[in-house]
Amino acid sequence: MDQKALVGIAEIAELAGVSKQAVSNWRIRYDDFPRPFQNLQSGPVWEREKIESWVKSFRGQETHVISFINLKGGVGKTTTAVAVAEMLAQEHRKHVLLIDLDPQTNATVTLISEDQWAELDANGRTVAQLFEDRINPHATPRFDIEKAIVRGVSTIADGISRLDLLPSSIRLIDLQDRIPMIALSGNFTANPLEILRTALQPVLDRYDYVIIDCPPSLGTVTKNGLRISTGYVIPTIPDIVSTWGIYQIVDNVQRFAQDIERAIPAIGIVATKVQSNNLHRRVIEDLRARRLGKFSEGGPLEQPPLFANTISQAVAVARGADVEAELRTFKAKYGAAEADLRSLTQEIKAKCEAKR
Ligand SMILES: Nc1ncnc2c1ncn2[C@@H]1O[C@H](COP(=O)(O)OP(=O)(O)OP(=O)(O)O)[C@@H](O)[C@H]1O
Ligand SMILES: [Mg+2]
Repeated sequence: MDQKALVGIAEIAELAGVSKQAVSNWRIRYDDFPRPFQNLQSGPVWEREKIESWVKSFRGQETHVISFINLKGGVGKTTTAVAVAEMLAQEHRKHVLLIDLDPQTNATVTLISEDQWAELDANGRTVAQLFEDRINPHATPRFDIEKAIVRGVSTIADGISRLDLLPSSIRLIDLQDRIPMIALSGNFTANPLEILRTALQPVLDRYDYVIIDCPPSLGTVTKNGLRISTGYVIPTIPDIVSTWGIYQIVDNVQRFAQDIERAIPAIGIVATKVQSNNLHRRVIEDLRARRLGKFSEGGPLEQPPLFANTISQAVAVARGADVEAELRTFKAKYGAAEADLRSLTQEIKAKCEAKR
């Protein structure tokens, strides 16, 4: 772990812009006020990161960071993540950053053209460059968060002004296995799980929502996303094979959350590419009753709830994934799944913004 930044009551009062007395009151009144990291002779001290996030959530100003995760490929992670990001920005007027952590770059190339991507990639303006800089600590760093973020992306409305993108690159494929080893390459101070968090620190406050499209794995890159996530969503096709790994995801994320001493709740499971057949109906029933596979065996883990809104299989969606198709409305881009995606966005937003 990196050295923790610690703060006392006076500093908490200063960073929250309130009196020391108010901070003392918060400690008494709110059970979820962070516990002190240590009690020094001069008084208790807290980890700055935990205090900052508590103050933000107390004021309802918290940036909601949501990872879309499944170990299975092709289940609609990218489609759902992109649509939710677009709708939060365009219809709910939220400031949204979409982070593409998948070397397949599917989210990136549905939001910007391949030409634009090629130019950004050549200039080191992707998350791959961010990780590469840490892998080669002796080379001059090239990644600059302000330059890497593409503003006003998507074909919807010729660009959604509140929607920004941190693009991915296929170069991440060669890099990802080397990221856990960065401490061995002479970079002893960089924690491989903190790379994204450190890079985003100067910009995170600008956004109401950060949506992270994860690769189908729980490797170091996905963990960099989870490190900053306030919750995660599991998109799944409601069939046996696609739901198989959900227990493993929940188990792994929970253990990771314990390691970093911060809760990362599962906001919910979303059934995607839903067809009207018996198998899908049965699996959705099990998910709704929260008795999916291994979860039902009375073990320590609870199945995350299924979102009330499911996303139906729609022909238009596959076509809409192509940025060159220049689809300017949600109807054209998502066809029969448009209304489902809109309701899901509302549901995610309501869950995130539910008052304490
Ligand atoms: N509701 C839907 N109706 C029809 N097709 C869909 C729907 N959602 C996704 N698809 C299509 O299914 C394919 C996989 O979707 P998507 O890329 O979103 O999945 P993914 O889980 O992100 O995949 P990967 O693991 O490869 O990143 C794509 O061709 C996409 O257009
Ligand atoms: Mg994807």
